Amino acid sequence: MSLESGVESQESRVKSRESRVGSQESGVGSQESGVGSRESRVGKINNICEMGKTIFHFVVVLLTVILFSCRGEIPLLSAQEQQAYIKRGDSLSKLTFDTLRNTLMRKILSDGVPGAVKFCQVSAGNITATYSNEVIDIARTSMRYRNSLNKPDSLSVAILEKMQAEKDEGAEPASLVLKDDKGVVHFYKPVLMQAMCLNCHGTVPGQIQPDVLKVIDSLYPGDLARQYKEKDLRGAWHIRFSDKAVK
Ligand code: HEC
Repeated sequence: MSLESGVESQESRVKSRESRVGSQESGVGSQESGVGSRESRVGKINNICEMGKTIFHFVVVLLTVILFSCRGEIPLLSAQEQQAYIKRGDSLSKLTFDTLRNTLMRKILSDGVPGAVKFCQVSAGNITATYSNEVIDIARTSMRYRNSLNKPDSLSVAILEKMQAEKDEGAEPASLVLKDDKGVVHFYKPVLMQAMCLNCHGTVPGQIQPDVLKVIDSLYPGDLARQYKEKDLRGAWHIRFSDKAVK
């Protein structure tokens, strides 16, 4: 099941909850109006209609809950909690990105781009994990990954597809948080291509120079992370907060 339909059904759950409240209220109204005999007949019909509606809404809510339980992903975060996690995720991914980029720039200046690729292979994983700890896991993922350790799991695939769809519609892909049934909160933030990234993720032939390509091909035989253009969606930060992470 795709994330989008999951989000839609989340919305429809809220909507159906609202309309359930609405129909309960109108049910009260129709009971009150059932005073005279004609009126009470109308009231009864109304009540039957309302009952039908309520049952229908109940079924919709039930189906949504079952659907979410099957996916193992039940939205349990309030808007306030979501905002707090977005804030934490933003600052953690920014700190990590700055550390990665600064180290990479220094390496490119001292060892050239091919040297920096070798350095990336040895250190990118460790640097990405600089701010990780026992309860917070910081990683990057991408549909077209270079290191297969960054291959997206099924949840990440759904999120990356949603972000790509937003991008294709001309919108800025948005960060998002959700909680799974194990209590783990997942934060996702889009990573977009910048000009300097093209040295190692750009067009072949063209932007990735032959000496750089040689190193990439030798270290990553199944590399998918090339032929990107500036501003393309390159992937996403994926931060997992375990249920023991301080709220
Ligand atoms: C010097 C070459 C180089 C440059 C410049 C570079 N990267 Fe990479 N990138 C790599 C290598 C090598 C890996 C694989 C690292 C590993 O083994 O974990 C990688 C991995 C990644 C990943 C993790 C997903 C994957 O494909 O495995 C992302 C996301 C990423 N790069 C984005 C960027 C962005 C955004 C920029 C520009 C700000 C950038 N890269 C600049 C070489 C580079």
